[in-house]
Amino acid sequence: MVLGVILLSVVGSYVFYALAMAYLPGSISDNWMPSRVELAWIGGTTLAALTLAGWVAVRLSRRILTPLNSVAHSLREIAQGNLQARATLDRHAQGETAQLVHDFNDMAKRLQSVTREREFWNAAIAHELRTPVTILRGRLQGLAEGVFSPDAELFNGLLRQVDGLNRLIEDLRVLSLNDSGHLELDLAPTDVMREVSVVVQAFATRLAARGFQLHIDGDVPIPVVCDAIRIRQALMALLDNALKHAQPGALRVRAHLENGLCSLSVEDDGPGLSPDLAAFVFEAFRRGDPSRARSSGGSGLGLAVVEAIAKAHGGCALCRPSAAGGTVFTLQWPAMGEGSA
Ligand SMILES: Nc1ncnc2c1ncn2[C@@H]1O[C@H](COP(=O)(O)OP(=O)(O)OP(=O)(O)O)[C@@H](O)[C@H]1O
Ligand SMILES: [Mg+2]
Repeated sequence: MVLGVILLSVVGSYVFYALAMAYLPGSISDNWMPSRVELAWIGGTTLAALTLAGWVAVRLSRRILTPLNSVAHSLREIAQGNLQARATLDRHAQGETAQLVHDFNDMAKRLQSVTREREFWNAAIAHELRTPVTILRGRLQGLAEGVFSPDAELFNGLLRQVDGLNRLIEDLRVLSLNDSGHLELDLAPTDVMREVSVVVQAFATRLAARGFQLHIDGDVPIPVVCDAIRIRQALMALLDNALKHAQPGALRVRAHLENGLCSLSVEDDGPGLSPDLAAFVFEAFRRGDPSRARSSGGSGLGLAVVEAIAKAHGGCALCRPSAAGGTVFTLQWPAMGEGSA
């Protein structure tokens, strides 16, 4: 704009005096007082410069001030609790201003989804706690009032509820530590196959009683760097799922090393996951058939914990349908610690 005004006054004046001297030499004043023609030129130039400045100011305010005002307004709305507020982007806005509006809207969207997620978690945790606490309270009240007799069966039932609560608390602890990046691992050189056989032995009786035929695949030893306790915990969650959700049949546990990645998988023969569930199965509180999961006592945290453990190792958790119509759950991580793959 400054360049425009300078050009208008310097080049314009040059042209004006050149024309005036050529065609109207008498119209140029020869003292300090401008002539009428010169006054008209000065007035015209000032008006043109003001119009140019006004036009540029309006465009600038459209490009910068309107989006900034919109961001400021939405910011106030968000501060007052309306997380749906978004800044509007004028079609004239460009460059940094447009980027600012986009960044602000992304931040508002993220804030809204974090808040929704927190509300969902609070509701889900309260829901999961309600059943065991209600059962415990009912039984203890019955005992206190002499309605129930204090026998071993009753106490074992109470213990099962407390164990369930304990597991829920531990799963929530692992997930929240992982979310905040504080899930610390005790990494050490480990033979994965040794850990697999320890876990499988602990499940063997229950699996056999339900009619599963166990097959263990893998070279011995498979040397990797991992937190053995966490890997066992993940494998236990997968075998627990097979017990609770898979139909009796062959159950294959495989471990192998490939391209610096260690893969540990559990494959069952069915019934498999519906595509709807498969896409979100590693999310917390996701359950296939809520009524069936209710009866089996699951909270829907097992696979979220498996994924958290894989991620803490710098790896990932995967699930895919198996050839026999079941599901293969795989835990994968860099065999020599994070960064080796
Ligand atoms: N091997 C499997 N076969 C079929 N469905 C499965 C299998 N493993 C998991 N699922 C489905 O995925 C859902 C989520 O599993 P997840 O382990 O996260 O939760 P859960 O087993 O229901 O509860 P929790 O593990 O907290 O006790 C289960 O409710 C079940 O519907
Ligand atoms: Mg489970």
